[in-house]
Order: sequence, then C-alpha cells, then structure tokens
Amino acid sequence: SSNAMWGGRFSAGPDAIMEAINASIGFDKRLYAQDIEGSKAHATMLAVQGILTEDDADAIRAGLDKVRAEIEAGDFPFSAALEDIHMNTESRLKDIIGEPAGRLHTARSRNDQVATDFRLWVRDQCDAAITGLEALIRALLGQAEAGADWVMPGFTHLQTAQPVTWGHHMMAYVEMFARDKSRFEDARTRMNESPLGAAALAGTSFPIDRHATATALGFDRPAANSLDAVSDRDFALEFLSASSICAVHLSRMAEELVIWSSAQFRFVVLSDRFSTGSSIMPQKKNPDAAELIRAKIGRILGATVALFTVMKGLPLAYSKDMQEDKEQVFDAADNLLLSLAAMEGMVRDMAANRPALEAAAASGFSTATDLADWLVRELNLPFRDAHHVTGTLVAMAEERRIDLPDLSLEDMQSVHPQINEGVFDVLGVHNSVASRMSYGGTAPEQVRKQIARWKEKLG
Ligand code: ARG
Repeated sequence: SSNAMWGGRFSAGPDAIMEAINASIGFDKRLYAQDIEGSKAHATMLAVQGILTEDDADAIRAGLDKVRAEIEAGDFPFSAALEDIHMNTESRLKDIIGEPAGRLHTARSRNDQVATDFRLWVRDQCDAAITGLEALIRALLGQAEAGADWVMPGFTHLQTAQPVTWGHHMMAYVEMFARDKSRFEDARTRMNESPLGAAALAGTSFPIDRHATATALGFDRPAANSLDAVSDRDFALEFLSASSICAVHLSRMAEELVIWSSAQFRFVVLSDRFSTGSSIMPQKKNPDAAELIRAKIGRILGATVALFTVMKGLPLAYSKDMQEDKEQVFDAADNLLLSLAAMEGMVRDMAANRPALEAAAASGFSTATDLADWLVRELNLPFRDAHHVTGTLVAMAEERRIDLPDLSLEDMQSVHPQINEGVFDVLGVHNSVASRMSYGGTAPEQVRKQIARWKEKLG
C-alpha cells in the first residue's frame, strides 16, 4: 500500500529493506516528549496567527496529550512503516481526533521538527550533565576538606616527585570537572535557538510567529537563517565534544582509583557498594566501576568521531545522513551521565588510607627538591650546584637503602661541608607541603582557600 503522508505521488509501497534502512522509530521514540511539546507550541501559534481555528488547535493539543499518555503508559502502537517519531505521533493523532490532525503540519516540515526536537533533547542532556558534574564536584570537595593536610606522593612519570596533599589532588579534579561544566553551559547557551518555522529549508509563506514558538519552548530566540536552522548539527557536535573531554577527565581519575585501590598502593579503599568480587578468587575486591568509567571514553569519543564524519561534506540543507546523529548522541549521553553518577558515588564513599599515603609520601626521596631549595636559600648555592649536591646525597642514600632524613649530618657534610642541622627540618614531608605556599600550591593553607572559593561559588 502507499503512504498516508505522501501517497499522492506514489503507486507502490516501500520494499521491506527500504523500510528497514529508513525507519528511525526504533531509536527516535526517545524524542516523543520534545516532539509533542513542539507540536503543541506550533498549533497554539498557528491559532493565534489565525492559520488554524481555536477549536482545531484545542483538539490537536488535547489529542497530543492523549498520545503522550499512551506512550508513557507503554501502549502506543509504534510502527516502522511510519518511519519516525514525527509521523508516528501525527498518525496516532489522526486516529484520535480525525480531520484537524491533518492541519497540524501547516507551515512546518519534519526537517525543522526534528531539528527542534533534537535540540530540546540535547539541551536537557546539557542540564543533566551540569547537574551530574556539580554532584561530583561536591563529592570531591568533601574528600578535599577531610584531607586538606594529609600528605601523599605527587608523581610525574608515575615516579615519586614531591609530596602533595590529598586535598590538593582532589582539588585538581575539581578544576577539571568545573571546566567541563562550563563547557556544557557554553554549549547550551549557543544551542538555545529555535529551528521551528524554518520549515523544509526556505521558511514559509504562512504568517507564522517564530518568536512565539521559540519563547514557548524556552529558546532564547529563533534561529536567524532557515537553511542553517535545518542543516546545523553543531549543537550535537559541541555536546559530544564536551562529553569527550569530560570522559577523558573521568577516565584519568578512574585510572588513578584503579591504581590506588591495588594491594601495592593501598591509597584508597573503595566501598563495597562500588566494588565487585571474583567468582574464583575469594580475596578479590575489584574496582569494576572505575574500570568501566576508564573505558567509556572509547564509545563517547567514537560517537563524536562518527557524527563529525557524518556531517563533513554534507551540502545544505537537510540530508537523510543526519538521521544518523541520534543514536550516537543518545549512547554518548547515556554513558556520560552514568559515568558521572558512578564516579560521584565512588568518590563519596571511598576511604583514603591516611597512614599508607603518608608512608608513601616520605619514600622515594620525595623531599630531594626541598633539600636543594634549602641549599640555595641557606648556603646561597646556585640552584644547579644545589641540584648536584642533592643528587650525590640521594645516590648515597639509595646505595645504603635508606631515605634522605636517615643520613647523618657527617654524611651530609662529606658532600658539602657547610650543611648544618637545620637541613633536617625540610626533609620532613609535612614541612615540605606546608612550604609550598605559592598561589595554587599544595600547602594545606592554599588548598583550604581553594576549597572555600569553590564552596562559595557552588552555593
Ligand atoms: N527521521 C528524520 C531524521 O531523523 C526526520 C527528518 C526527516 N526529513 C525528511 N525530509 N525525510 O532526520
């Protein structure tokens, strides 16, 4: 049979394979709420403009509410023959209210309709990501506050570098996730223009009011060019790009949790609620959630690359290629939000092992830089000479399998005769971190200032 929406021109229905490649209802049903809101706003505007009667608009709005209720109750007859969510809802509306349903699509196309629905959906996901990031930032602030002055090793090349504070390390992630949050906020601001009323591509000859529908749907303004309005998907690309950067941050943090929770590090204990066991090794407590978060960047960046590749080279205006946008964004959004929630739970629940952190902080000659700085400050050595003297002392300690503070004053003086007792003050890890008072440095006092700044900012 031929199609109810465009059957006039057709004498044969589609091949089953045609239907299979063309139908998007299997996934774009997720846009049902946005589709119905968009249609209601459109019908209301058409009536205000005298393009529809008030009676027809009333019937359409009431019918759309019924459609929505059916979908939410799980007894909506989704049909692949009706391709997508737009034609499924309109067709069902016709079953329910009859003739006025056919007037809804006046001055509109599925091209501006899908662009509108999808923008609304992605806008909601930006809001959800912002909320998820805020919750994660609060969990990190809680950890930072509890351990603002706990010492741990700071690493470069994953080799012991200098002591830092637990709070400082947690606050590094606060900075990263706060930038992620601002990326979603920026993207949301830019995407908040309404495509509705761009129609197929050229606008419409009907006296519509695009400002009214834009306002009704919470957009800041209508998109200013009808061709751009139906062909642009950079709102989705921006969402995916922001998601990818966020997923990289999540992945790095997840990697640290995997390392830190190992028996070799024992820096943190993850809660039972966010760990799993092994079916064969009874002793095991595995950081599966962290591992999965570490991996999610694969699909999120994959979705990003996929949509960039779909969009490149597409001529204006709409092409069906763009139907490939949705599954990528749906999958990326679902997995990003799940990762944010899981990371928040893990961070909130995890217990830092303060004695293990402190012991590790003191090992690996972590205060060698403090010793070199002391030689500069107290003996007025050029830094390069101080570096050399310190290196010699490190080699001496390493050969004897002891740490720097375990060397005697005589040992020290054998390398540089002017070294005195005062040097031992700077070899302790607590003095080391307390001395890093430069702005943004690891001193507990600086870390507490940053915690206070973020708490004030989040309210
Ligand atoms: N399902 C389509 C999509 O997601 C809706 C727009 C269809 N427009 C068209 N001219 N065939 O892109």
